[in-house]
Amino acid sequence: MKKIFLYSALILFLSSCQTISEDKSTAVGLDGWLEGNSEEKFEEIAHQLGGFSRTMVEVSYRYSELYWAGMDENWGYADHQVEHIIEAMEDGLKRRPVRTESAEDFMETTLPELEAVILKKDKEEFIKGFRALTSACNACHAKEGESFIMIQEPPNRLSPVRW
Ligand code: HEC
Repeated sequence: MKKIFLYSALILFLSSCQTISEDKSTAVGLDGWLEGNSEEKFEEIAHQLGGFSRTMVEVSYRYSELYWAGMDENWGYADHQVEHIIEAMEDGLKRRPVRTESAEDFMETTLPELEAVILKKDKEEFIKGFRALTSACNACHAKEGESFIMIQEPPNRLSPVRW
């Protein structure tokens, strides 16, 4: 008898939880741009975060900055860029796990080796490391069927950072 009571109490509790969590459609954000139920809102936010192309735009900027940091022998800024390339890649691969396999060497060998090279604070070593990085960018593009995106050392500075 006691058990039956407990079970019915549990069922009542669970069904009331369901009523509370019933997904209402409310618009949030400035002028209510984010609409729909929770699932629709998450879908929209995921879409707004973008895919791998968005990641690459950031990686590409940081790649350029890294190059000029090395040319300036600004090792603190060089290290900063590699850290943020790693972070951008990790976030991008989380959103597009289908790219993970092609990025394996890049993440596990190329970037850690480059970090080690930067610690040496030697421009000649850096240039060699940077060449290896460029090849690794292009190797992944080839694996991903994007060989038309050919990366080369940047001829011009993009940002106002100087050392
Ligand atoms: C997963 C392996 C992978 C690695 C490693 C990688 N890329 Fe990419 N890259 C891609 C893919 C895939 C695309 C196409 C993305 C798309 O269109 O969705 C791309 C696109 C790009 C683009 C074009 C972005 C655009 O849409 O305008 C640039 C620029 C780029 N990569 C630069 C780099 C640089 C620089 C590096 C090295 C520091 C690098 N990539 C490393 C996979 C990779």
